[in-house]
Amino acid sequence: MIYKKILIPVDGSDKSILAARHGAELASRVGAKVTLVHVIPTLPVDVRSLVLDKISAQGEEILKKSAQEISEFNVGTGTEIIIGHPADAICRKARSGKYSIIVMGSRGLSGVKGYLLGSVSSAVVSHAQCPVLIVR
Ligand SMILES: Nc1ncnc2c1ncn2[C@@H]1O[C@H](COP(=O)(O)OP(=O)(O)OP(=O)(O)O)[C@@H](O)[C@H]1O
Ligand SMILES: [Mg+2]
Repeated sequence: MIYKKILIPVDGSDKSILAARHGAELASRVGAKVTLVHVIPTLPVDVRSLVLDKISAQGEEILKKSAQEISEFNVGTGTEIIIGHPADAICRKARSGKYSIIVMGSRGLSGVKGYLLGSVSSAVVSHAQCPVLIVR
């Protein structure tokens, strides 16, 4: 089996939903399992206690919505929230969980135009040790 485990990082953006659907369809065709992962950026200690609950709840919502968006593909789907530096956490997760491929969006939530790749997808493409599929 070429892909056994597919890691799909999601930030709630339309592009990440597109990536989730692409990854789930790929998983359904090759018989792979999917993990949707959302990374909560590490926050300064002083503001952490004030906003972490809220951000965690938003993260859970993003994962729930993303899981619903791929439910029609009927693939085994896990979800996980990680706190850390997004690109670093995604690459570490792919490595420690022995994922075959990462499927992610070219851009995310940031409204900044002009770049073809966001900073998270750009860093993951550069640093991941497994194949990376960028969905546009
Ligand atoms: N916090 C996150 N957790 C999980 N996946 C993420 C996260 N942020 C981004 N991603 C993934 O990376 C893809 C590209 O998003 P990225 O953040 O690189 O672009 P951007 O938001 O447009 O630009 P930037 O964040 O650099 O200003 C998203 O479609 C999603 O798949
Ligand atoms: Mg972003």
